[in-house]
Amino acid sequence: MSESVISVENLVKLYGDLRAVDDISFEVRTGEVFAFLGPNGAGKTTTVEIIETIRNATSGKVLIFGMDVRKNRTEIIKRIGVLPQEFSSFDRLTVEETVRYFAALFESDCDVQHLINLVNLGKHRNQLYTNLSGGLKQRVGIAVALVNDPEIVFLDEPTTGLDPRARHDVWDVINGLKKEGKTVFLTTHYMEEAEVLADTVAIISRGRIISTGSPSELIDKHSTSIHVTIKGGMGISSVAEAMGLQWEAKNGGSVVMEARDNEQILEIMMRLKEKNIGYDSIDIRKANLEEVFLKLTGEGLSGGGGH
Ligand SMILES: Nc1ncnc2c1ncn2[C@@H]1O[C@H](COP(=O)(O)OP(=O)(O)OP(=O)(O)O)[C@@H](O)[C@H]1O
Ligand SMILES: [Mg+2]
Repeated sequence: MSESVISVENLVKLYGDLRAVDDISFEVRTGEVFAFLGPNGAGKTTTVEIIETIRNATSGKVLIFGMDVRKNRTEIIKRIGVLPQEFSSFDRLTVEETVRYFAALFESDCDVQHLINLVNLGKHRNQLYTNLSGGLKQRVGIAVALVNDPEIVFLDEPTTGLDPRARHDVWDVINGLKKEGKTVFLTTHYMEEAEVLADTVAIISRGRIISTGSPSELIDKHSTSIHVTIKGGMGISSVAEAMGLQWEAKNGGSVVMEARDNEQILEIMMRLKEKNIGYDSIDIRKANLEEVFLKLTGEGLSGGGGH
């Protein structure tokens, strides 16, 4: 187990009467990708900006590199990189000029070409910021977050609003950061993103962390059923009925049953055979993070939950 590089204890943030962050505690380990997964208004940005020393907590204790965020701001900001939720830059600078500008601002002698290549912008180095697509702009933002060669990189919703292709490109960049040994703190409301990238996911809803673990731990811990989808002819649902399983007919002639465990899956198969019920295909899968999230909070990830 690596050591913890961020430690948050009983963090609370009030905005007037609103408990935007409501007594949360968690640890981030060195070198991991840690994802804060939650819907709009859950308290993600508030929490990361307290860790980044940008906002002040109402109460609680936050240590980063073992240092208190209230007392060691100057030291801490040298060692972290930040992509804010609404990153934007100078329209009339090129990609390369933008990275150079921020490097100079941070008095960093970083290798600008290396950074541009790291975020896969080599082909675009001479393009004006204003002419870049949303996905490319986000990658410029990540390059800017890296000019001081930070040990921890905070990315606040780096892929929101991007198309699937651009999102995958940003995922590649994040995996590259991990390979470089950096700790990545990611906030997102895309469950696939957390599932694909994160070593540890903390699910946050209405200011509270409701579960933490690796994606597969969360799914194992909270999924109560296995989805068995059987595509085929008549009579399949009668098996579910006979076994007392929940089932649903889907478009295209398939039936989805909720099995509790592997024993029940075997029993479904046996009964299909005994009754000579033919089928074309069987698909068996556990719940995904989105279903876990729904179960835990009663709210969806991408919509709702906001204020
Ligand atoms: N400066 C502020 N003053 C008052 N209320 C605020 C402030 N910043 C955030 N809030 C409120 O606190 C709650 C948490 O906001 P926050 O921005 O941390 O959520 P988030 O999880 O980052 O959401 P999103 O996914 O929309 O970015 C929201 O209800 C928001 O309206
Ligand atoms: Mg936010």
